Amino acid sequence: MDTIAAKRVNGIRIHEAEDFEGMRKAGQVASACLDMIAEHVKPDVATQYLDDLILEFVRDHGAASATVGYRGYRHGSCISINHVVCHGIPGNRLLKEGDIANIDVTVVVDGWHGDTSRMYGVGDVKRKASRLMDVTYDAMMAGISIIKPGIRVGDIGAAITQYAHKNRVSVVEDFCGHGLGRVFHDEPNVVHSARAGTGAELQPGMFFTVEPMLNLGRKDTVILPDGWTAVTRDRSLSAQFEHSVGVTEDGVEIFTTSPTGLHTPHKAN
Ligand code: MF3
Ligand code: CO
Ligand code: CO
Repeated sequence: MDTIAAKRVNGIRIHEAEDFEGMRKAGQVASACLDMIAEHVKPDVATQYLDDLILEFVRDHGAASATVGYRGYRHGSCISINHVVCHGIPGNRLLKEGDIANIDVTVVVDGWHGDTSRMYGVGDVKRKASRLMDVTYDAMMAGISIIKPGIRVGDIGAAITQYAHKNRVSVVEDFCGHGLGRVFHDEPNVVHSARAGTGAELQPGMFFTVEPMLNLGRKDTVILPDGWTAVTRDRSLSAQFEHSVGVTEDGVEIFTTSPTGLHTPHKAN
């Protein structure tokens, strides 16, 4: 996929101005898809039904799902409920009152990837769960808001971790954000529990995701025998948000903001 003009700095691809437009389009489809699904997240709905709606939406918007066929994965989304940290597989599991669910979609539009996820509360959610969703969103935004040329990748994780620990929740270390663009997973690895001053220095034109997973209990995870589903080892609740972003000349552009402002934790259907 590399062209002769492809440029990398510190191992990370530098994109051109027109590439931002490609990412904007992909990011907006992914985000609109998560807006669409919000009203369907309610008790007694099967997660496979949500995935069907997502695949239909993606197709109707001139996009493709990046997850279908990815390393043998067969669905248009990951739906990770309660103690599931990430990569929950849609199936016949019914949502129930009080669940918290992360829905993660990655779409491809004109070759560009838009990768985003949000938390949804199913009906009325306990205070602790609701607070975890809020803290996770705010932790992601704490990481994103400091992005600008000259900072290091590790500074993002440091900001996330500082915010998480202040709020007495742990940060998962087993899964990272990632570079993306014309490819789904690229350099850099965005470690959400990093130390400030570590990692590659950011430059304009770098694209990557910020997608912290925060747990009410310990940070450790286990993969279930299906080979995908990651859960907290202590079975405590976990939450995640994800945006795809680009480093600009003087800051950051979020490609996956919601067209209708629904990108914060979604509660009560
Ligand atoms: N969207 C996930 C991410 O944030 C990757 C899911 S890969 C899948 O990187 F195969 F599990 F869908
Ligand atoms: Co991602
Ligand atoms: Co994702």
